[in-house]
Amino acid sequence: MLFVQLIQANLTTRILGREITYYPFTDSTNADLWELLAEGDAVPGQVVVTDHQKAGRGRQGRTWFAAPDLGLPFSVLIRPQLPADRLGLLSLAAGVAVVDALAAMAVATKLKWPNDIVVEQGKLGGILAESRTVSGQQMVVLGVGLNVNEQPADFPRELEAVSSARIVVGTPLQRELLLAGVLNRLEQLLDAGVDDVPQLWQERCAHLDAEVRFQGAEGPARGRFLGVDASGRATIEVDGQAIPVSAGDLDWSSL
Ligand code: BTN
Repeated sequence: MLFVQLIQANLTTRILGREITYYPFTDSTNADLWELLAEGDAVPGQVVVTDHQKAGRGRQGRTWFAAPDLGLPFSVLIRPQLPADRLGLLSLAAGVAVVDALAAMAVATKLKWPNDIVVEQGKLGGILAESRTVSGQQMVVLGVGLNVNEQPADFPRELEAVSSARIVVGTPLQRELLLAGVLNRLEQLLDAGVDDVPQLWQERCAHLDAEVRFQGAEGPARGRFLGVDASGRATIEVDGQAIPVSAGDLDWSSL
């Protein structure tokens, strides 16, 4: 069971996590936050967190598995002060915040574009950013799913290349401290105006300069991953030309 008081006792933020809604179980914390907002019950910085997310939404229409009481699925509501073409930086900032918060708890992870948290054995976390205009105001829900205290047997067999913080370090982590750490770091990055986020993201990238396979405009393509641009798009060098890629998956491990 997650304790909201313990999360809040470890916050250094002004906005993020000052309001936290905890559900023992729910379908999707992203869906919950949009619902709260529609009902007028959510403020910027609001967090929804659960111990048991039963129908987590993943990127590209996929689902997100979270082991009851072991993982950390949560969402945070952002009222961005950014032009629409830079909103992608918010999800990259969340990735940087997660990697840094895990590092502060001695768990070394990296980022895989667009925003997977990875270790050598596989994926440890993912981020789903959803953006909508509500009453004329642009709002973003950043949904973060982290595998924290799972052992290998806690994952469904069909999930391949998956890991958790506990598998990496060998001991369980206090999920409340991890959530507070992510919110603290994320607010710092947002307060700084996100201009530094592309550079910070690249420094934590698992495949900078590597040959990658990705979904290009005309189907699968290969190239060298050069980094992310000021809008958060990937820049990939194909046949000597740097091309921006704004969505999709990439793979570099089995080339
Ligand atoms: C991915 O596909 O890698 C992104 C997964 C994001 C999952 C998180 S868990 C908390 C939040 N609520 C959801 O329904 N999804 C996100």
